[in-house]
Amino acid sequence: MLIIHNFAVFEGLDGSGTTTQLRLLAECFAGHPASDPPLPPFFDTSEPTGGPVGRLIRSVLGGEISLEPATVAGLFAADRHEHLYGKNGIIGRCRQGELVVSDRYLPSSLVYQGITCGEELPRKLNSDFPFPELLLFFDLDPQTAGQRIKARAGRDIYEHLEFQIRARERYKALLPEYEEAGVRVERVDASAGIGDVAGAVWRAVQKMPIMSR
Ligand code: TYD
Repeated sequence: MLIIHNFAVFEGLDGSGTTTQLRLLAECFAGHPASDPPLPPFFDTSEPTGGPVGRLIRSVLGGEISLEPATVAGLFAADRHEHLYGKNGIIGRCRQGELVVSDRYLPSSLVYQGITCGEELPRKLNSDFPFPELLLFFDLDPQTAGQRIKARAGRDIYEHLEFQIRARERYKALLPEYEEAGVRVERVDASAGIGDVAGAVWRAVQKMPIMSR
């Protein structure tokens, strides 16, 4: 399976801090413009995307519209296709020497849609997509993750404890598969303080070859 160089993804349960940490990482890049060697151009992104398919997915996640689980799995794959290959997509950016980091990617489909649709469908729908170079897994127990998102307005359809417990089990089973495929998988203790987690993320990203070019 093809690996996209210069591409990293953040994965974890809802409430594990991927979104906060990606924002902090982007701030780090913006705050160090003149380092030696110079930092590569940085692009942070997320799935579901802000594009038309991603917006449709968000209305499903928010419970505003209801679709069959298999339809939703198809939408995530369609959104991902656009994210990779569409205008200003991940593939083009990485080829041009940008460092791209996405808050969620293909593993989220195997984990979340694996629960709603069974193992086979998300694997089939996602079988042609390339792998990231680095996968950072934000490891947090589902109870603590649940406490963190409790205060959030408008929780999505997957944000309940039983679902998140199953999601964590699926992540744990999936990560070795990625390692075997040649993806660098780093597990971050997401129960640590925000600054410590940010430090661990920074160190993991530093090890990407693009950072020492
Ligand atoms: P999330 O990162 O929680 O977005 P936000 O911070 O805006 O709430 O992602 C939204 C949800 O989408 C999350 O519960 C995981 C789910 N998801 C899938 O079910 N499959 C996928 O392929 C992806 C990318 C996300």
